[in-house]
Amino acid sequence: MNIKCTYQPAEQRYDQMRYQRCGHSGVLLPAISLGLWHNFGDVDNFDVARDIVRTAFDLGITHFDLANNYGPPYGAAEANFGRMMHTDLSPYRDELFISTKAGYDMWPGPYGNWGSRKYLISSLNQSLKRMRLEYVDLFYSHRPDPATPIEETMGALDSIVRQGKALYVGLSNYSAEQTLQAIQILRSLGTPCLIHQARYSMLDRWVENGLLDVLTREQVGCIAFSPLAQGMLTNKYLHGIPEGSRASKTFSYLKSSAITEQQIHRITHLNDMAIKRGQTLAQMALAWVLRTPAMTSVLIGASSVAQLNDNIQALKVSEFSEQELKEIDQLLKA
Ligand SMILES: NC(=O)c1ccc[n+]([C@@H]2O[C@H](COP(=O)([O-])OP(=O)(O)OC[C@H]3O[C@@H](n4cnc5c(N)ncnc54)[C@H](OP(=O)(O)O)[C@@H]3O)[C@@H](O)[C@H]2O)c1
Repeated sequence: MNIKCTYQPAEQRYDQMRYQRCGHSGVLLPAISLGLWHNFGDVDNFDVARDIVRTAFDLGITHFDLANNYGPPYGAAEANFGRMMHTDLSPYRDELFISTKAGYDMWPGPYGNWGSRKYLISSLNQSLKRMRLEYVDLFYSHRPDPATPIEETMGALDSIVRQGKALYVGLSNYSAEQTLQAIQILRSLGTPCLIHQARYSMLDRWVENGLLDVLTREQVGCIAFSPLAQGMLTNKYLHGIPEGSRASKTFSYLKSSAITEQQIHRITHLNDMAIKRGQTLAQMALAWVLRTPAMTSVLIGASSVAQLNDNIQALKVSEFSEQELKEIDQLLKA
C-alpha cells in the first residue's frame, strides 16, 4: 500500500522546548518526553493517538518511549507507532529519540519474560519489526531479574549496541544497589549506561532514598515515569472518578481504590497551591519533578492533545521558593 504523508511538522518546533543533557553523554533530551504505555493500544482511537504524537513533535518533544508489551494487546503500541513512523515520521527519523524495553511478560513459554540474553535480544528484534525501525535510540532492561545473573542481562545490552540495534542502553525499576552494580558492569564492557527510568512524583518519592545519589555520582541520567501519578496529580479526580479516565477503566493499572479520601485531601490542597502559582496542578507536578538537578526529563502520558498542551506549559513556571517546597513536603506528609 502506498501511503502519502500529509503531516508537516511545525517549523518552530525547537523554539520553546528545553533540552537537557543526559548524564555524562552526548545526548540531549527534551525536559518533557512522551510515553505510549496507555492510549496507544488497539482499544484506543488511532486518530487521537496520532494527533497526540504529531502535536508532541510539533512542540519539540523528540523523545518517545515504548515497551514491547504496551497495548493492549501486547505489542500494539509499538505497531501503532510503527504505522505513524511509516505515514508521518520516517523523514524525521534522525530528529527522534525512540526507546523501547523488555523485561515483563511478553509471550508464552520460558523465553518471553525477565532478563535472559535469549529474551532481550529476540524481543528487541520483534520490537524493531513492529515499529518499522532499523534501530532504536535506547533499549532498556525493563526490570531486574532475580534469577538471571546480572552479567548476562548487561552482556545482552552490550551485544545489542554492538549489533547496531540500539545506540544506547538503560535500566528501569532497578534499586539503587542493583543500579550501581549494573552501571559498573556496563562500564567494564565499554557500553555505558545512559539513563535510569524510574517512577517519581510527589506521591512516590522512593528515588530520593539512594537512587538519585547513585545516578548523580555515576553521571547517569534519570527520566521520571508517571510524574502525574497516572493522572492523580491533576484536577481530574477532585470531584470523583470521571468516565473514560484511567481509574475508570478495567484494563488500567490505576485502580479506583487508589483515589482515597486522604489522596483527594492532599490533591485538593496541592491544586489550591498550583492556582496560587498561576498554573494547573499537572503543570506544578511536572515542574516539581524537574526541580531535581538529577532529572533529565519527565515522561508523561496523555489521552488527548489538550492534556499535552496543558502539560507542556509546566516549563513556563518552573521555579519554586523554599517556602513552597516546604509547604509541599508538609502537605505530602499529612
Ligand atoms: N519503566 C516502567 O516500568 C514504566 C511504568 C509506567 C510508565 N512508564 C512510562 O512512563 C510513561 C508515562 O506514564 P503515565 O502514563 O503513568 O504518566 P502520567 O503522566 O503520570 O499519567 C498520564 C495520565 O494522566 C492523565 N493526564 C495527563 N495529563 C493530564 C492533564 N493535563 N489533565 C488531566 N489528566 C491528565 C491522563 O489520564 P486519563 O487517561 O485518565 O486521561 C494520562 O494518560 C508511560 O507511557 C511509559 O512510557 C514506564
